[in-house]
Amino acid sequence: MSAASRPETFTNLSRDAYVSEAVYEEELRKVLGRQWLLAGHSSSLKASGDYYVRQVGPESLILTRDGEGRVRAYFNVCRHRGSRLLEDGDCGRAQGFVCPYHRWTYDLAGRLRTVPGAKDGSPFSYADYPLHEARCDTFHGWIYVWLGEDEPPALADVLGPASDEAALKTVGSERLKLAHQETYVIAANWKTMLENNAECYHCGHGGHPSLAIACDFQGFFSDTPSDQAFPLRDGMATFSMTGRRVCQKPLGTAPPDGFSTGFLLMPMFCGPVYFADHAVSLELTPLSATQSQLICEWYVHEDAVEGVDYEVPALIEVFHVTNLEDGVFAERNARGVSSRRFTPGPHLAHREAGVGGALGLYKTMMAAD
Ligand code: FES
Ligand SMILES: [Fe+2]
Repeated sequence: MSAASRPETFTNLSRDAYVSEAVYEEELRKVLGRQWLLAGHSSSLKASGDYYVRQVGPESLILTRDGEGRVRAYFNVCRHRGSRLLEDGDCGRAQGFVCPYHRWTYDLAGRLRTVPGAKDGSPFSYADYPLHEARCDTFHGWIYVWLGEDEPPALADVLGPASDEAALKTVGSERLKLAHQETYVIAANWKTMLENNAECYHCGHGGHPSLAIACDFQGFFSDTPSDQAFPLRDGMATFSMTGRRVCQKPLGTAPPDGFSTGFLLMPMFCGPVYFADHAVSLELTPLSATQSQLICEWYVHEDAVEGVDYEVPALIEVFHVTNLEDGVFAERNARGVSSRRFTPGPHLAHREAGVGGALGLYKTMMAAD
């Protein structure tokens, strides 16, 4: 290739970045530990004692609402010999958490309360063994956690500039109800998933036939600024298989047909997108160097009634099908990238600008100490 024809930037990273355990370990500290990460919506923690378990990177977290009404995130690790307190997928309402191994118990504030066979102070003080806690904050109802040891930036300072305050008021972001959740485990490095989510170059040519019904994916490439976070085709009310509404109870103050807004964080891709009648959130997290998890949640107005206002299959179909298609793209990409002959190819700035932007953020974070 002549110097004149060599692209200035390349689409993705070198092979190591997608398969190396050493790179992955570094990412856990420099990327996963230094970004606010979406971990559900506060409507799933309506009352004190409500809880659910969330896998975020290598950590299992217990999200709960304490006695003062604060949302808290505890590492799912007993302070005795480290047993998990709860299982993946557990949720419910409790007065505290009991380790299933030797029955040490913790209250909703994470304080150790009882230890069978050992009174407080003899031979140790309970106060010295609270549950380990992750920083946690909410933004317009969404719960974010911070896994690292560093002091995080204020969540509002991060998400405020990335979101449209007026549009978020329109959708009544605090007044949602979780209608459905899907968890996808994909045999691909998380950055392969990120790259796929950061471009819609693959959406054309039959890549996402269902998505193409309602989504004007050419809008993702437009140079003209749009007030739509998620471009819909003319005449489409919402993002669904037909373009018609899939929940009869609109969000908030009833946004018009074709409405969309949202805010996404990168490089660990996460955030919600809202339409006139429902919202969808995506949370990407790595499980290992070569395996990723994507949690997709569908939300409706808190007063919407299943079977009356919405049916889950119609509500979820287009995003679910698209997620499955993206999983196939990512796994196929991951198998190719694992080849010793793989080298990054040329970058199409007019089709893949999002990939360059997302990986630019990643490179900046990895270059830090
Ligand atoms: S490991 Fe939890 S009580 Fe022993
Ligand atoms: Fe896709």
